[in-house]
Amino acid sequence: MCGIAGITRRRAGVLSDLLKALKNLEYRGYDSAGVAISLGSRLLVRKGVGTIDQVLGGVSLEDGRMGIGHTRWATHGGVSVENAHPHTSCDGRIALVHNGTLDGFERLREELRARGHVFKSDTDTEVIVHLVEEGIEEGLDPISSLSRALSELGGSYAVAMISADSDSIFVARYKSPLVIGIGNGENYCASDVAALLHLTREFVFLEDGELAEISPEGIRIWRMVGGKLESVNRGAERVEWVPQQMEKGGYEHFMMKEIFEQPHILRKLAETVEYYVKFSEGLRSALKDGWLSIVAAGTSLHAGMIGKYYLSRVSGLRSEVVIASEFPEWSHHLGKGDVVLAVSQSGETADVLEAIRIARDRGARVFSIVNVPGSTLTRLSEDYVFIQAGPEIGVAATKTFTAQVAVLYIIASLMSDSDSGVRLMRDLEVVSEEILGSMEGLSEEARNVAKLIRMSKHAFFLGRGINYPTALEGALKLKEISYIHAEGYAAGEYKHGPLALIEEGVPVIAVIPTEEALVNKIIYNLMEVRARGAFTITVQPPEVSLPSDREIRVRVRDELTSPIAYAVPLQLIAYHTAVELGRNPDKPRNLAKSVTVE
Ligand code: AGP
Repeated sequence: MCGIAGITRRRAGVLSDLLKALKNLEYRGYDSAGVAISLGSRLLVRKGVGTIDQVLGGVSLEDGRMGIGHTRWATHGGVSVENAHPHTSCDGRIALVHNGTLDGFERLREELRARGHVFKSDTDTEVIVHLVEEGIEEGLDPISSLSRALSELGGSYAVAMISADSDSIFVARYKSPLVIGIGNGENYCASDVAALLHLTREFVFLEDGELAEISPEGIRIWRMVGGKLESVNRGAERVEWVPQQMEKGGYEHFMMKEIFEQPHILRKLAETVEYYVKFSEGLRSALKDGWLSIVAAGTSLHAGMIGKYYLSRVSGLRSEVVIASEFPEWSHHLGKGDVVLAVSQSGETADVLEAIRIARDRGARVFSIVNVPGSTLTRLSEDYVFIQAGPEIGVAATKTFTAQVAVLYIIASLMSDSDSGVRLMRDLEVVSEEILGSMEGLSEEARNVAKLIRMSKHAFFLGRGINYPTALEGALKLKEISYIHAEGYAAGEYKHGPLALIEEGVPVIAVIPTEEALVNKIIYNLMEVRARGAFTITVQPPEVSLPSDREIRVRVRDELTSPIAYAVPLQLIAYHTAVELGRNPDKPRNLAKSVTVE
């Protein structure tokens, strides 16, 4: 998964703004990077292995009026200078960057080689630029040549291309995100809106299968219909995100900033409960035989599981939760009129988008809960709402998890009682205030726990009821940024095998319910693991006394909102453990923020 960006403007000087756009995309991948700058009659390409700063920081490059750039997360072809983007045509007059994975490129590469093209990389992307070069040599204009090249290739793509013979950027997208930013005497493209907030808040969103020519004067959009390019009219939309949200704001890491943002986001949700009424009513009325499928991945899957609990307990509705990547295999029953609820912060997760495309093909109705404006999922959904969490830069989801849970709580409540808005507002305001008032203390306690578990090889998280997914989420946070093997379990399930894993000193973190009947059960689970040597840590209500070695007492209000309150100390334990181990919590190894490949 990679990031692409481009700027074309009347006045000279794009490099600084282009690099800032790429920096804002580094969370999408950062093993190599590069730019191509148009210098009027020729292109200047600079690329290399490493982050944007390592490859392009402090480099004095001739600047120009147009440029494209790329930050790479290698899929086809290893990490090398040759495989870094941009890729150029044989004559060096065309440069192209790409996010996605192409099918059938090997055959085309051999055919192009046979026709004399020289390849400098072993990427799938380079095939596109040589196909375009051939089309232009045959007299096609750039957009027609790009369209023909892409139609010969399968797979997914978001591409940006420039030529030494034009002041336009030529773009196309299919199953990979690409947005167009609108400026004054200048225009832009990028993988998502967050990359361009320092330049604009006006965006035009391309649909899959569309292409566009972006010049300083304006935008022209086409789609391929019956083998011919047909012009498309599309207006701009304003995005209410601001550049400051892309900064660390004095925190050492984005992840910590985003953890501390949570109370403010919850207050904003409390104040905007009304925004969710229409969506909730639409979802409720769409339920054919009264139940729905929730589809998500990763942290959003854990939020979706809590959503299932809300729908059952608050709305009395049946629902299933399907892992997005498993959806094709587990949804053969899905048919016309069924209802699917997708939960995705990026709105670009390939597994989720593929599931939604299958659902739509089968005639199901799709509703979505999303964070990123203009994301692909919003364009595939009959209706959608935003979780209003602002851009989340840390790869580990934190504020978007609690915002998703809060929004699911709001929606489930409104589906049950459309007049529950006042109660919801109060509930969420109290949760926000309780968290806000305890953040510093929780962080200090979490840091102390991190010092105790930092050298552990394994850690287990136990939860019951609504906090079984919370335990899964706590484990995911710890493993994805500290690299300690961590697993979450339903506490009652633990004795059916996993208990064998308990050895002296193994940390077991238990998320304690607020309801007495459940507390008594988890006490028994804690005694089981302690009897076998586990080091037990409880994340619990203030007044409960438990057989544990360490307690983190949380001002939790009630069972229904407890996942929101409990998520914070679990996030902080993961964060501090990662920092203790010298990891970068914002950029964990092997991971990208949004998994846009299946
Ligand atoms: C969670 O910390 C990870 N970043 C990852 O599991 C993420 O939640 C998952 O890839 C789903 O992303 P989405 O919400 O953007 O669909």
